[in-house]
Amino acid sequence: MTILDQSSVATVNEAAAASLESVIELRRAIHREPELGIDNPITQNRIAAALTDLPLDIRQGEGDITSLVADLNGSDGPTVLLRADTDALPMTEDTESSFASTVPGRSHACGHDSHVAMLVGAARILSARRDELGGTVRFMFQPGEEGYGGARLMIEEGVLDGVDAAYAMHVTPNAPAGIVSSRAGAMLASADTFTIDVIGRGGHASMPHYTTDPIAIAAQLITSIQTMVTREIPVFEPTVVSVTKINAGTTNNVIPERAQLVGTIRCVSPRTRIQVHDALERLVHTITAAHDASAEIRIDRGYPATINDSASVDLVADVARSLLGDDAYVPMPSPVMGAEDFSYVLEKVPGAMSNLGVCPADITDPSTAAGLHSNLMRLNESALSAGVAMHVGTALAALDQLRAG
Ligand code: NI
Repeated sequence: MTILDQSSVATVNEAAAASLESVIELRRAIHREPELGIDNPITQNRIAAALTDLPLDIRQGEGDITSLVADLNGSDGPTVLLRADTDALPMTEDTESSFASTVPGRSHACGHDSHVAMLVGAARILSARRDELGGTVRFMFQPGEEGYGGARLMIEEGVLDGVDAAYAMHVTPNAPAGIVSSRAGAMLASADTFTIDVIGRGGHASMPHYTTDPIAIAAQLITSIQTMVTREIPVFEPTVVSVTKINAGTTNNVIPERAQLVGTIRCVSPRTRIQVHDALERLVHTITAAHDASAEIRIDRGYPATINDSASVDLVADVARSLLGDDAYVPMPSPVMGAEDFSYVLEKVPGAMSNLGVCPADITDPSTAAGLHSNLMRLNESALSAGVAMHVGTALAALDQLRAG
């Protein structure tokens, strides 16, 4: 099925190609000055300046969050939201690029600089087609994706009011340049953290019978947690529980009073997520009780699983094939156990997240490219025009589909 007609395909691709130079320029400017968390004022100003001559209705976040929402109002009709995240990571960039981060300890290693630039490029192209737009396109520029839940804060601000469908795209250097991928249903996992304190009774390590050794109990807990995952969770519901930090003891001849375990829980469905939380609580309390110790467990809920609507994924696939070629869409074979706060948006409205391959041109095997969150992450800037085209094509096709449906 071709979702965009031939003349639309040609004009969208031409406009996206023509936008590339300015997209790269904006991406590099943002790249040089990365900002963290929900407070990204320099980036917000750059976005506002880049959109200033366009026929957009712009609202900037009030309070702590430097969000920016821009509406492009065509004729009366449905509203489609396109989202770009704007924040960087608290890590040093070690690439030797001419536009590397100028701020020590901060870098755009997750490529959100390119997300902003591509969405600004798309806003310009769609603005030029405003008269033929069968509804509204809302551009969501969202700070605080990297652990701050900026999407949830923007939902509280009302970014989803009146929205009928929502789409987002994430670059990845570990896929060939210009290849789009996604999957129906769970695409990314939920991410929760847990902290378990095992409380025993300390004493001399030569006389453990006078103590309640929390280290031995913690060790049993670690293996029991892995047994729980493999024996209680259906194999068709990918689940990861990793203990990533153990803290106990001070020296060789003292049994300490406490041992602490910290870790992460990744699930791809809300049902499994609850099941794992319940099982962890049960194991912690029963195993420590069995050894006459006690325990405290705290589970901090992070982002929910990112669940794509299947009709929206079909639309993205059709748009990719129409604009970028028959082989440009590759379905993801499995979810990725990372997490993403666009999940909060997809909890409220149907839509889809997709990945855009941006493997650097000098690397033949994308799996060997420095990936997201690497100090050496680089991306292929010429692939960004494909992302601009995808945003534009997705907005046009989604408005058509919503009007038809
Ligand atoms: Ni990211």
